[in-house]
Amino acid sequence: MNFADLRKRGRFLDVGSGTGVLAAALLAGVEDATVIGIEPSESYVTFCRARVHDQRVSFERGDALDMPFAGGQFDGTLSLLILQELRDAPEAVKEMRRVTKAGGIVAASQWNFADGMPMLALFWDAVIETIGTNDARKEAANCMVVEYPDEKALRRLWKEAGLVEVETQLQEIEMAFESFDDYWTPFSSGVTKTASYAQKLSEDEGHALEDRVRQKTTGQAGDGRLTLTAQAWAVRGIVPAGSTATRA
Ligand SMILES: C[S@@+](CC[C@H](N)C(=O)[O-])C[C@H]1O[C@@H](n2cnc3c(N)ncnc32)[C@H](O)[C@@H]1O
Repeated sequence: MNFADLRKRGRFLDVGSGTGVLAAALLAGVEDATVIGIEPSESYVTFCRARVHDQRVSFERGDALDMPFAGGQFDGTLSLLILQELRDAPEAVKEMRRVTKAGGIVAASQWNFADGMPMLALFWDAVIETIGTNDARKEAANCMVVEYPDEKALRRLWKEAGLVEVETQLQEIEMAFESFDDYWTPFSSGVTKTASYAQKLSEDEGHALEDRVRQKTTGQAGDGRLTLTAQAWAVRGIVPAGSTATRA
């Protein structure tokens, strides 16, 4: 969030808000912020509404590719770890730019898949060990292939959306899971490629996979707590003055 270099006060948008981690960080890190989180998954929106009781934040269903906002509404628009899920990332970044005021920041971060992504690798290793079909292996391999995998691709994506003063940074992120459920829940909800795979398994396959992941995650501390370190690329750019805010 520091890298996004946001204004001290204003209205911010969290695109693909999931469990609300970024929205909470925005409220805590910006002196006077109001935050809207948009997210296509009904279960995540319900979860966040039930969990976060703060008048400064609201969560709505919405799609990064067609956001329910007029142009130039936000002082900053951010997304955390969603680019790899989108069928048209360039359109989503143009939408992020459209809804942001001139001079405002558009920023995102995305896993450095080139370095492996331990949270997903653990899941897909368990898929190969329990399901093990050719299809499962293919899905496991495809899941780590993303369209914008590195600094160069992210810079290009931001510049092609019309953003200026584009900067990137490689960050190390420590992911601490308090329990098995903390790790497992994102695979059973949300609109991600990995969650869609988990949801289409048969009941038996699903149980076998969950058991295998449980064994792997309890290995570390013996009580389900788990810490994984991953790398992510952060990218940010500014909406140039005088730019028109039309739908992508
Ligand atoms: C890996 S999760 C990250 C969630 C959250 N930003 C975080 O960091 O905890 C990816 C999120 O992208 C959301 N997502 C998938 N497709 C989307 C779309 N078209 N528009 C907005 N969000 C989307 C998923 O539902 C999920 O919440």
